[in-house]
Amino acid sequence: MGTRIEGIGIYLPERVLTNLDLEKMVDTSDEWITTRTGIKERRIAQNESVVDMAVKASERAIENAGIDKGEIEAVILATLTPQLGFPATACLVQERLRLPPTAMSFDISAACSGFLYGLDIADAYLKSGKKKTVLVIGAEKLSSIIDWKDRSTCVLFGDGAGAVVVRYDENSESDILSSKLYTKGSAWPILYREPCGYLKMEGRKVFKEAVNGMAEASLEALKSAGLSAKDIDLVIPHQANFRIIKALAEKLSIPFEKVYVNVNRYGNTSAASIPIALYEALKEGKIKRGDLLLLTAMGGGLTWGSTILRF
Ligand code: ACO
Repeated sequence: MGTRIEGIGIYLPERVLTNLDLEKMVDTSDEWITTRTGIKERRIAQNESVVDMAVKASERAIENAGIDKGEIEAVILATLTPQLGFPATACLVQERLRLPPTAMSFDISAACSGFLYGLDIADAYLKSGKKKTVLVIGAEKLSSIIDWKDRSTCVLFGDGAGAVVVRYDENSESDILSSKLYTKGSAWPILYREPCGYLKMEGRKVFKEAVNGMAEASLEALKSAGLSAKDIDLVIPHQANFRIIKALAEKLSIPFEKVYVNVNRYGNTSAASIPIALYEALKEGKIKRGDLLLLTAMGGGLTWGSTILRF
């Protein structure tokens, strides 16, 4: 009995930006981007706002869960590209979904780890008995904060949204078994954005922090759940770079067939990356009810963490 992902939905903009398109925009090549990152293409929002994308993903998650949207008691939205300075993007989503005022709504700013932070907060509310149904969203319009003249960052990111409806179900074997989340504020200068500025990143430093941080957090989360890496059916890592994901799998001694990858198609969609990957893994039949999943992410903050979930 426990916290169960009852429904999931995603939204990806239609417009595809390929590495070949980027070759015409900055001094880069398909070969460089593919070998260094594994990314081949990404989606770029045209007319869609971050709220539009979050709303579409949420509507699909609510439909997939088969619930009445009036049952939602909280909206937790993770983003590093909010629509406004304030109010929270979650408030704008709450309005568009026409949720009742009892659905308290707020954003969390934890960059690429935002979805895992959101899931952990939802789990705490559900397990405390204060809420029964929570909507957790990761939504990003990273194209709006990218310097399209900076080849070291513009090739990496994409837009999109993913949402899950989570509920407490005492008759279900599904649960969040453990969640280990961390922050190292002292490392913020390697990945940040000034107000109204562009995303800045020291790629090599972030790369090392990502591999080590996600591996250590995963081992801690496994230990806390009384499990070992061998028990995991599928790893859903934050999709930032194929090489990071490969190095992580090696550190955890998890065979690569047990690691889900779609960074080639969407690039890094920050807080949206894990729910989008989870959705696609489900759609491809790689996850069934009862499977043990390891979700892990690292992002600006620095923030990172791992969550073990019995789906
Ligand atoms: N095309 C061609 N050359 C490039 C490009 C490009 N798009 N970008 C950089 N280069 C050049 C550099 O200028 C450098 O040239 P030099 O050797 O002449 O100085 C060379 O390629 C190597 O650059 P590095 O930055 O050292 O390349 P690296 O192998 O480290 O790969 C990358 C860079 C892909 C950014 C990698 O470091 C990485 O993935 N880092 C982690 C990013 C990440 O995980 N972010 C997650 C969090 S994001 C968030 O929270 C929002």
